[in-house]
Amino acid sequence: MDDYEKRMRKLEKKLSRREKRIKGVEDLKISEGVFDKDTLFTLYWFVNKGIFEVLYGIVSTGKEANVYWAKDEKGREYAVKIYRAATSDFKKTMQIYIHGDPRFKHVKRTMRALIVAWAEKEYKNLRRAYEAGVRVPKPIAVRKNVLVMEFIGKDGVPAPIMRESPPEDPEKIFNILLDYVKKLYKFANLVHGDLSEYNVLLWDENPVLIDMAQSVVLNHPLSQEFLMRDLKNLLKYFRNLGVDVPTLEEAFKYVTGG
Ligand SMILES: Nc1ncnc2c1ncn2[C@@H]1O[C@H](COP(=O)(O)OP(=O)(O)OP(=O)(O)O)[C@@H](O)[C@H]1O
Ligand SMILES: [Mg+2]
Repeated sequence: MDDYEKRMRKLEKKLSRREKRIKGVEDLKISEGVFDKDTLFTLYWFVNKGIFEVLYGIVSTGKEANVYWAKDEKGREYAVKIYRAATSDFKKTMQIYIHGDPRFKHVKRTMRALIVAWAEKEYKNLRRAYEAGVRVPKPIAVRKNVLVMEFIGKDGVPAPIMRESPPEDPEKIFNILLDYVKKLYKFANLVHGDLSEYNVLLWDENPVLIDMAQSVVLNHPLSQEFLMRDLKNLLKYFRNLGVDVPTLEEAFKYVTGG
């Protein structure tokens, strides 16, 4: 028996002891292979820490991650984002974003290490954004490839993405978003890097930025380029909704200046 097998045996033993206590796991038919064993073990770690108690259904299946709805014993709701083993394209993307970021320059180049760093990067970025006063899901915890955050929505129904339900008052939302981009830049030292109507949720007529794994610090070599792209997306979307938006140069100046 090699090391890996030994570890797996141990894990299985532990899991079989714990499984009975976690109802949500059976609902999800996890034992039929929804999650790999490492991920499963990580989920149990969260449960044992009391961070959430039950993992309910899936909220979103993405290319790189799935998002689940969870509750703790007090009934508070969480979004649990689970990164999956990735394609080689995703590996390339992760390397560009991770190795240009001084916080992560020592990450190994294996797929597993990159994914763990990716989840940790999203957690750290969310925390910085949150502390800078930008409305994002409050990050709760991260371990391995699993990120737990505030659930934006209610009773398991996530807030709609802006793309699916355009704002009633686009000018107001545009101004708030531009202000968030500025706050991110000035106070969190971050550029979102994938800002568009797909990564903004609207909750109570207010925008919430999501999906920050790819966000980069300002001294990442591509940060200015990403900022321009983010602003372009934002201006284009709101111009189409009839908002009298500034030019790209004006918006860039507003975000980066004084
Ligand atoms: N904190 C949250 N609360 C509620 N719903 C969320 C939350 N985070 C993510 N979601 C839902 O999950 C979807 C995917 O999340 P996110 O954009 O972070 O992941 P992704 O890996 O980029 O997935 P995709 O490839 O689909 O963009 C969102 O569009 C949203 O519907
Ligand atoms: Mg997304």
